[in-house]
Amino acid sequence: MSYNLLKGKTGIIFGALNNQSIAWKVAEKAYAEGARFVLTNTPIALRFGELNELAEATGSLVIPADATSLTDLEMLFAKSMEHFGGKIDFVLHSIGMSLNVRKDRPYDDLDYSFLMKTMDISAFSFHKMLQTAKKLDALNEWGSVVGLSYIAAQRTLFRYNDMADAKAALESIARSFGYIYGREKHVRINTISQSPTMTTAGSGVKGIDDLIDFTDRMSPLGNATAEECADYCVTLFSDLTRKVTMQNLYHDGGFSSMGMSERAMHTYSRSLNCEECREKLD
Ligand SMILES: NC(=O)c1ccc[n+]([C@@H]2O[C@H](COP(=O)([O-])OP(=O)(O)OC[C@H]3O[C@@H](n4cnc5c(N)ncnc54)[C@H](O)[C@@H]3O)[C@@H](O)[C@H]2O)c1
Repeated sequence: MSYNLLKGKTGIIFGALNNQSIAWKVAEKAYAEGARFVLTNTPIALRFGELNELAEATGSLVIPADATSLTDLEMLFAKSMEHFGGKIDFVLHSIGMSLNVRKDRPYDDLDYSFLMKTMDISAFSFHKMLQTAKKLDALNEWGSVVGLSYIAAQRTLFRYNDMADAKAALESIARSFGYIYGREKHVRINTISQSPTMTTAGSGVKGIDDLIDFTDRMSPLGNATAEECADYCVTLFSDLTRKVTMQNLYHDGGFSSMGMSERAMHTYSRSLNCEECREKLD
């Protein structure tokens, strides 16, 4: 069901790779709610992904850009404004990548050149896009910028590795830039802390299946899906959330407030009663 929440609004959506991507679902929902937007991703993602299909379905322009490159970002914001004939109302940062995770380097044996890349791609690109947008005065008053985060920014989750540091930085950037952009231009900046979700980036974390099962058992409402995350993004881009800014907003079915649930306890005690499982636990 759509409510025309984004009628007349224009945006830029970073990070749709394939139809599992959270950004892909956001684009579909934003389109259904009446928005027009530019889709962007790296040239290599455009070659290997399926973005043209989404562009066709939503009548969107695709502009390649590496979100770590200031030159690319300037070109992207300038071309987007030219395309829409004016400023932009919303931006989605749905970008993450860690070579340490991909190459299975544990947190106490990080490759530091990979770490720099993790931070640049997954966190500093958020600052770069905000700074570029502000310098070009590319966002309308009461515009909305959303980045996607994960609870590993606050709590240690096995195997999330250096992405935890990147998410902590991402959330901090939302607060620090949110103050300046809010004060000067009434632009709001928030992060959504999403449940683990089976996407290309998500499946890079080894054992994601078990993590998804665990968080689902722990959350009173169950894990939030990518589609549900897209619904939440739409509300944050809409005029219904104009005074929400500088927040990290949990979208996780209640997981972030839980200690232990009945369902998880049940599974844990069953595994303690099974000899083979107990050996694995020890
Ligand atoms: N999947 C999960 O479990 C989960 C949970 C919480 C938060 N998130 C976050 O959601 C966001 C989207 O990830 P996803 O799960 O949809 O996976 P995804 O793999 O579909 O999306 C990640 C995107 O980042 C893009 N990207 C990588 N390097 C880039 C660069 N230099 N410039 C521009 N784009 C670049 C990729 O091309 C890809 O489109 C990420 O920030 C991720 O950390 C994911």
